[in-house]
Amino acid sequence: TKKITIAIDGFSSTGKSTIAKQLAKELGYVYVDTGAMYRAVTLYAMQHGYISENHFDSKGLIEELPAISLSFTFNKKLGFAEMYLNGVNVEKEIRTIEVSKLVSKVAEISEIRKKLVREQQEMGKNKGIVMDGRDIGTVVFPDAELKLFMTASASKRATRRYKELLDRGDKVNYEDILQNVQERDRIDSTRKDSPLVMTDDAIEFDNSDMGLKEQFERIMRLVNDRI
Ligand code: C5P
Repeated sequence: TKKITIAIDGFSSTGKSTIAKQLAKELGYVYVDTGAMYRAVTLYAMQHGYISENHFDSKGLIEELPAISLSFTFNKKLGFAEMYLNGVNVEKEIRTIEVSKLVSKVAEISEIRKKLVREQQEMGKNKGIVMDGRDIGTVVFPDAELKLFMTASASKRATRRYKELLDRGDKVNYEDILQNVQERDRIDSTRKDSPLVMTDDAIEFDNSDMGLKEQFERIMRLVNDRI
């Protein structure tokens, strides 16, 4: 069997990472969560005062980009790679609602996208990779052998996200999350650089009602046709 590239795109909280992790485990592939990279840059921008709820010094952040080093380190116990920002594990900090509220603004900036896309392409140059995000099938790996596009209703997605955050012990409000999911989708699909769009060669999965097992089996059939 040959190694392929699997690109998974879609709206926020459609279960992309759950399916991507499972696929990577089954195939012995590397899984890369590109959203974590945009979140880590956002966390850096928050920590250094480049962005807050009512101000964004995008120019300053762009100048600071060479000082931002992102890396993934595989955590054996968890079974997936965790995000490190300048050598510090930020896996928990990047998932907060505060970061979620600002990340799409940071992700609009072309200079930032260029840096992250370059790093993502480097990670996938030997194939055998499952990558999820918003522009993987369109920009990062336009030649990926398998492109999936995940969708689900906004309320299903907000409920999923809400449960995730509650499970982690965060104090969150459902309405806040629903609003954030919808707002991010709006910004992500309408931005100038690399908007979230479904390409003709992508296969759409609406998992509003589909169980994870059924979904995984269907996707594995698509994979097996290609390896
Ligand atoms: O996947 P996740 O929801 O963690 O992504 C957070 C945000 O990062 C998205 O809402 C989007 O603004 C940005 N993003 C992006 N391109 C990617 C991955 C994420 O613009 N490939």
